[in-house]
Amino acid sequence: MTETLNYDVIVLGSGIAGLRAALEVARVSKGKLRLAVISKVQVMRSHSVAAEGGSAAVLYPEKGDSFDLHAYDTVKGGDFLGDQDAVEMFVRLAPYEIMMLERWGLPWNRLEDGRVAQRPFGGHSYPRATFARDRTGFYEMQTLYDNLVRYAGQNVDLYEEHFMTKVIIEDGVFKGFYVIDMKTQDHKLFLGKAGIIATGGVGRLYGFSTYSLTVTGDGIAAAYSAGLPIKDLEFIQFHPTGLVPTGILVTEGVRGEGGILRNRLGARFMERYAPKFKDLASRDVVSRAIIREIMEGRGFKGPNGLDYAVLDFSPIGRERITERLPMMIELGKEFAGIDPRDEPLPVRPAAHYTHGGIHVDKYGRVPGVKGLWAAGESACVSIHGSNRLGANATMECAVYGMLTGAQAAEYAMAADDPPSASQSVIEEEATRISRLGEGTESPYAIRQDLWKIMDSYVYVFRDEQGLSTAVKQIKELKERVKKVRVTDSAKYYNEDLFRTLETLNMVALAEIVATGALARKESRGGHYRLDYPKRDDANWMKHTLAYYTPDGPVLTYIPVTVTRWQPEERKY
Ligand code: FUM
Repeated sequence: MTETLNYDVIVLGSGIAGLRAALEVARVSKGKLRLAVISKVQVMRSHSVAAEGGSAAVLYPEKGDSFDLHAYDTVKGGDFLGDQDAVEMFVRLAPYEIMMLERWGLPWNRLEDGRVAQRPFGGHSYPRATFARDRTGFYEMQTLYDNLVRYAGQNVDLYEEHFMTKVIIEDGVFKGFYVIDMKTQDHKLFLGKAGIIATGGVGRLYGFSTYSLTVTGDGIAAAYSAGLPIKDLEFIQFHPTGLVPTGILVTEGVRGEGGILRNRLGARFMERYAPKFKDLASRDVVSRAIIREIMEGRGFKGPNGLDYAVLDFSPIGRERITERLPMMIELGKEFAGIDPRDEPLPVRPAAHYTHGGIHVDKYGRVPGVKGLWAAGESACVSIHGSNRLGANATMECAVYGMLTGAQAAEYAMAADDPPSASQSVIEEEATRISRLGEGTESPYAIRQDLWKIMDSYVYVFRDEQGLSTAVKQIKELKERVKKVRVTDSAKYYNEDLFRTLETLNMVALAEIVATGALARKESRGGHYRLDYPKRDDANWMKHTLAYYTPDGPVLTYIPVTVTRWQPEERKY
């Protein structure tokens, strides 16, 4: 029996984008709209809490920063794949979000004169990463959550530990989400006039990853199954400094504060790859440099093939490390047995960000579907093009949470039809889930195999042979995942079932990443093809759209919006 719950607006996901969207819905409607926030985790376990280094915004134009500079840095960082009209809007809205968070109580780091402090970050030509020590995401989440709970009981309901399995769209109109309560296994149909998908990226398609294990792209996968196009998913960001051996993020804030990458010979190798920006070049450039150093024999030997470079904190000074980067000390000690104040940390590129996602327009609307928006990492506007600059992601989550929340609220206030969905769709989904897990394949073994494929063939450097192998092997996983077995029969917290549902999503999404990467015969931003090492604007300055078919994604392409900056050679 599926319980039906009716809302005006439903926000799926409880990271920065989801909470900011929810808060805007509550604020715009003055608590009048019935709002549900659905998340598969407890709110403060959303992966956004793991964001470390900062949120980029122009706060001090009088000191030389400007919207144009932030926009240009972002477009150049994205290797000219970002839509420039959206970028220009984004940079203008960013300072407002910093100030809103400030007013809601976020303890930003301060300058001596009491104003909000900012630090340098990779690819930004002005120090505009606004930060709260090295726990920026945590403080942003806490601030948004604190403020949202003020509305709890006034038409705002939080559904934590609820797993969405389907987005329901009928005749081009959003209807709601099919959801399982993870605590009780009860099935629930959430119907809403407006919906916002804010479920994060696909980072756990990779084994060596800065993402928490929960980041399995469920919202993107549900949109894909519902027939919506997924944009630019071949562009994955590898953050240069994943801590070896776990992949936990060592913030770019370390290099922002003066930390230096070194190879086995002790050389500051970034001087050779990016003479001007050095260690603070854009992430794609720094990640490739680390892997080249390793490939050319100047790296350190690591466990399980995780060869690495080191990040030297000593130029920062002990006192400043303790004051501004306290979590790095904790992480270094806990996960590598090293106090970074005494010794450098071992690092190598780790999957860190999903540039692609559900195709949305510059306002976060899902084209062709009334009442549906997507925000944050599950969406692709595209602001970041093929390589996001650090500190622009949390900022995008806040800006697009606000934008989509405001629009969804206005839309729901104007809509008068109570939402409904056809019974057959609900029954089909209930049947699909009840039949899951009658096979023999372990979802955990499938995940491990997927990680090996993605870490080996769809990593920093790619080529035809590796990507063809990846596509072939992912197709084999697609067959195995159809025969998956859910071993646990528990009615409460049946983790086996949810890991299985995630694994289905992961395999489908991996196929999009690898297929898009194989098709894109050029190098751009985070997608580097050894066999096509140059950017090819004549043929490939376009966004990929992937559509679901049972045989694999069908790809089409749409143009990039250029307003002011023609593509040029990127130099750092
Ligand atoms: O390095 C970092 O702190 C990551 C920031 C980001 O991805 O924006």
